[in-house]
Amino acid sequence: MPRVFSQELLERLRSAKHVAILTGAGISAESGVPTFQGGFWGKYSPEELATVEGYIKDPKLVWDWYAERRRELRQIKPNAGHLALARLEQRGLRCTVITQNIDGLHQLAGSARVIELHGSLHRVKCFSENTLASGWENAAESPPRCPDCGAWLRPDVVWYGETLPPLALAEAMAASRACDLFFSIGTATQVYPAASLPQTALAAGVPVAEVNPDYTPFTAYATYVLRGPAGQVLPRLLAATWPA
Ligand code: OAD
Repeated sequence: MPRVFSQELLERLRSAKHVAILTGAGISAESGVPTFQGGFWGKYSPEELATVEGYIKDPKLVWDWYAERRRELRQIKPNAGHLALARLEQRGLRCTVITQNIDGLHQLAGSARVIELHGSLHRVKCFSENTLASGWENAAESPPRCPDCGAWLRPDVVWYGETLPPLALAEAMAASRACDLFFSIGTATQVYPAASLPQTALAAGVPVAEVNPDYTPFTAYATYVLRGPAGQVLPRLLAATWPA
């Protein structure tokens, strides 16, 4: 945990007009959501739960598993890390939160501009036509059927082997290049293309601060390394930048 932050970082944050923030599972860890490397898939493998092939093989298993995660989320609250990012925005700074998480906790914390690169557990789409669906909540079948075409429904999340929503990715890349300061928070920076965004920022001349209790493949490139849990580092960073 940094006891003292670099004055240069504090000044950059103080004078920034636009901050882009890439977040990963680590920012939700202190809310009680397991990270991908820390047990998110439980006793299953990502191949079983997060591929089209896995879904076709056992749609009920996959639907029920995500439905259970959605139920669990009702009890889960944003933590001090999510709240600090929302406060940053409330200071009048333009903040673009680019998240790989599907839990909706940034929005719940109050962040207004959130780009979801890997979809959302809160949305459901047609497996056949890829259109968003509603009105399925009380269906008896598992998975429920698309009200329009009768195909199965699936969670609107990006599975392995699928492409990211093109508009979300384009906006994330544009924000990474256009911001004055970029944060990479709680992500192992191992899954692409999200993992390339901190490098995109650096290539555009934007300094990058990494917040993580551990080393990642990006750590060696980071302009500032803030070692520690996001829920502790981020509130302290804000307090150091704008002392009361
Ligand atoms: P990972 O589970 O791969 O990595 C979580 C990162 O968070 C690790 O680097 C941890 O050290 C760090 N971490 C743990 N606790 C933390 C805390 N309290 N504060 C800050 N950092 C903490 O998760 P992601 O990098 O988000 O994709 O994974 C990226 C993608 O890989 C996921 O979106 C998912 C997965 O496969 C899909 O499902 C498509």
